[in-house]
Amino acid sequence: MNAKSMARKRKEAGARETLADLWPAKNPQNSVPLLKALHILTREGTLNSDSRRKLKQVLHLTQFLRPSLDILLEREEETVVADLGAGKSYLGFVLYDLVLGPAGRGRVVGVETRSDLVDLSRQLATDSGFTRMEFLSGPINDAVLPGGRADMVTALHACDTATDDAIRFALRHEAKIIALVPCCQAEVAQLLKGESNPLRQLWRHPIQRREFGAHVTNVIRGLVLEAHGYKVRVTELTGLEHSLKNELILAERHQLGNAQAKAELEKFVDQMGVRPALLDVMG
Ligand SMILES: C[S@@+](CC[C@H](N)C(=O)[O-])C[C@H]1O[C@@H](n2cnc3c(N)ncnc32)[C@H](O)[C@@H]1O
Repeated sequence: MNAKSMARKRKEAGARETLADLWPAKNPQNSVPLLKALHILTREGTLNSDSRRKLKQVLHLTQFLRPSLDILLEREEETVVADLGAGKSYLGFVLYDLVLGPAGRGRVVGVETRSDLVDLSRQLATDSGFTRMEFLSGPINDAVLPGGRADMVTALHACDTATDDAIRFALRHEAKIIALVPCCQAEVAQLLKGESNPLRQLWRHPIQRREFGAHVTNVIRGLVLEAHGYKVRVTELTGLEHSLKNELILAERHQLGNAQAKAELEKFVDQMGVRPALLDVMG
């Protein structure tokens, strides 16, 4: 399907859907002020076709996370969800509105470098009465969470190596659940450039190097998490018509480490001949 027909398909689908079709709450009307403030709904209360894609991504991710989040919330009153590279905090607000708010427990902490977005999110949380939402302004690497704890870490389209910063953050906090939807990735493509690997025809042209580099990056991210004792699932977030950045890496901590995955990771980076900075977490 080419870009034009994908856009047409999106438009047609958008024209048919209403909030009630999409919003998985008993009373979607209660969420209307929040969704208007996030520009997911227009002032007239119809779905904004530009934000519809974001809504779909965030709702899909919420659906993936909900079972684990329900378990965490049931076990521990003080469950903390850290949303890294939060942007306008669509994900944090949706998770709060649909899951944490109704549960009456748990906190969301958004981390974002852009202080203007952090200010907007703080205001919206106050206006919405979301008292267990907070926002830190600054880079992920410097983020110190109140209470020093993060049970679930999410990073939706955190740019380039910010996804790797999210992995470091999650490992540092021994997060039980990690959900990453990586964005553009340039580091490994750059490392592949001068490589005299026998497979180099696979990434000979710049577009192939970019795509292949992003793929290798995500394979390494998955192996790093496995080596740290996480069970890793890699799947599609939404249909391709909703986002081209569509790979979801879901990791659940179930042991302290995994020597076999560590060995596989070492073998893989040797074969590829690339050592991205993220490997610093391997000690
Ligand atoms: C593509 S946006 C995605 C925002 C949001 N997660 C979403 O899906 O709507 C990426 C965001 O990550 C932020 N960001 C990039 N690098 C970051 C870092 N190292 N620490 C914190 N935020 C970062 C950017 O400012 C931007 O708002």
